[in-house]
Amino acid sequence: MRHYALRGPQPLMGDVHISGAKNSALKMMAAALLVPDRVTLTRVPRITDVRLMGEVLERLGAVVSFTDDELTIDASGELAGETPYELVTKMRASIQVLGPLLSRLGRARVAMPGGDAIGSRPIDLHLQGLERMGAKITSQHGYVEAVADRLRGARVLLEFPSVGATENLIMAAVTAEGTTTIDNAAREPEIQDLAKFLNGCGASITGVGTPTLSIEGVEELHRSHHEVIADRIEAGTFAIAAAATGGEVRLLDLRPEHLELPLQKLEATGAEIGRGDGEIRVAMSRRPGAIDMVTLPYPGFPTDLQPPMMVLLSQADGSSILTENVFEARFLFVDELNRMGSQIRVEGHHAVIRGVPRLSGAPVRAPDIRAGAALVVGGLCAEGETKVYDVGHIERGYEDFVTKLRALGADVTLVEDK
Ligand code: UD1
Repeated sequence: MRHYALRGPQPLMGDVHISGAKNSALKMMAAALLVPDRVTLTRVPRITDVRLMGEVLERLGAVVSFTDDELTIDASGELAGETPYELVTKMRASIQVLGPLLSRLGRARVAMPGGDAIGSRPIDLHLQGLERMGAKITSQHGYVEAVADRLRGARVLLEFPSVGATENLIMAAVTAEGTTTIDNAAREPEIQDLAKFLNGCGASITGVGTPTLSIEGVEELHRSHHEVIADRIEAGTFAIAAAATGGEVRLLDLRPEHLELPLQKLEATGAEIGRGDGEIRVAMSRRPGAIDMVTLPYPGFPTDLQPPMMVLLSQADGSSILTENVFEARFLFVDELNRMGSQIRVEGHHAVIRGVPRLSGAPVRAPDIRAGAALVVGGLCAEGETKVYDVGHIERGYEDFVTKLRALGADVTLVEDK
């Protein structure tokens, strides 16, 4: 079976260039459906999820081409209004086409996403917001169907600052009639990037980066070019891996301010952090200290960096308590990590982590993108050989992961199917 074979312990040393953000690129690809013209995105990571979103767009009638890191989407032709089940099950982010399709065509039919490895993920907030904007929504046979001749501006107060709901509503609102206000909006840098891209296409979105967004509907969007921001989750994964392995790594081409809380938490464990212009240096020269931490929507500690942080804390000197507030089932990978010798007990949405001096290599399975990357970090820290299976999950979100790790001195190889 295809897997990564790792041998540790091995400190990561050197420089790593950070790729464009998956969670930014995917949403801009969906937003391109709003533009009856050609849009060009650069710094797009070559990962499975981008390829899948490309397939979704092509099924809907857009013309997509991808050369190096430049992606061109031409949605000027006639579009279909339905996204099939087989694509939505492969990638939940395909539901982000709901807002743009509804806005462009006046109707959209999108398969309901099911649960996945990090828990049941409802889309009620997306749908409630669209209803407030005048959409009639029905759901049957596993599909959500939304109809609205023209969406109209509305006040939407989100019960929780959901990233996906905020984005879907922004995309629905940019060409709606009148002004939409979204309160308790999510503030993740990827949402700010999406808003910047849409404003570059002629949209009028203000309040970007604050919990209150105001979107004045415009008649039509036009072509534009946009460079995707750096992937703060990829960067955070390498930063934590550098500290967990006792290494020294420079992360290049990124925005240090997007990682402020993870960097502060790493400092609290004893890492030395240098923040420069577009770069971060992370070094760790001792066994990490234990800390308590909680995940929260941005600017809180990102849930996507919780799994690698758990790996670091599993080897800390002392006990840590990690509280997961965003996704209920994000601790499912703990059983895999405990097979590598960690001592972690999960109680509800709290994990009690008793630090051990060293993990021990073992065969493990990647249950999702972030937990998969975290198990790789575990393998880099562990004594002996680790084999990480189901690496397709990791390849959904990390560009050239093995190549980048090898350049930092890791002993890791992709073993293909025989
Ligand atoms: C996005 C990211 C994901 C990240 C997450 C939180 C993408 C492709 N994925 O996911 O990597 O971990 O943000 O930063 O960008 N919820 C509801 N009802 C809804 C919507 C969400 O109850 O209508 C709940 C979810 O079940 C979850 C929480 O809200 O418990 C956060 O979800 P949300 O912020 O929407 O995350 P995603 O957009 O799915």
